Amino acid sequence: MYTYLLHTHKTVVILFLLIYLTKTILLFVNKDTLGKFSKIAKVPEMIISFLFLGTGIAMMTMMAEPTKTLLLIKIVGVLVSIPLAVIGFKKDKENKLLAVLSLVLIIGAYGLAEVSRRRVEKQELGASANPSASGYDAKLHGQEVYSKYCVSCHGQDGALGLSGAKNLQISALSEQESINIITNGKNAMAPYKKVLSEADIQAVAAYVRTLKK
Ligand code: HEC
Repeated sequence: MYTYLLHTHKTVVILFLLIYLTKTILLFVNKDTLGKFSKIAKVPEMIISFLFLGTGIAMMTMMAEPTKTLLLIKIVGVLVSIPLAVIGFKKDKENKLLAVLSLVLIIGAYGLAEVSRRRVEKQELGASANPSASGYDAKLHGQEVYSKYCVSCHGQDGALGLSGAKNLQISALSEQESINIITNGKNAMAPYKKVLSEADIQAVAAYVRTLKK
């Protein structure tokens, strides 16, 4: 459900930005066409804005805690850009500066949120995380990585399912397929290749298999 909302949200955001961008360009090159375009785009724009907000709010209720902070950047950007756009595109009193500013703001807010969504905060791993140390315990290592990086969405037992996370207790993936997803990410799950070593990823993938019911 979450992943479906995410794809719908992304699609409507792109459509929304295209309409916005077209209007801004027309504001500079041809105001008559802008008037005509705005008329035609009015109803689609209303539907798109409704879907944009609706999918965004629905996702908010299903999100894991750490992702929620990014949301603030987006929400502030979107909220500030709306009045700027309304004033900027006001008929016969257009203000090019405000129109451009609102476009930059909304693209910037989405860009920033998108970049930080894919970034994972590096966590300190304890002594159990050194595969070459004597007394190394792969299961402990995997468990530690899991509880530091994965619990926020998947939960202690693997079944939490926030931000569209799959239930790991019933995952049918092979260990290699899991390793690929952990390494490269998928949909709302960020890639971990920059913060976890191959040994970390192997250990956590093996640990995930122990969560299976
Ligand atoms: C931001 C939330 C989030 C975090 C944190 C997260 N995941 Fe995920 N995980 C997801 C989502 C969303 C999916 C489903 C991706 C898809 O198939 O659309 C997923 C899918 C998976 C899958 C594939 C399961 C299947 O059966 O398809 C594995 C394995 C997995 N995660 C392991 C991990 C591990 C290990 C960590 C920690 C290193 C982790 N995840 C951290 C959100 C998260």
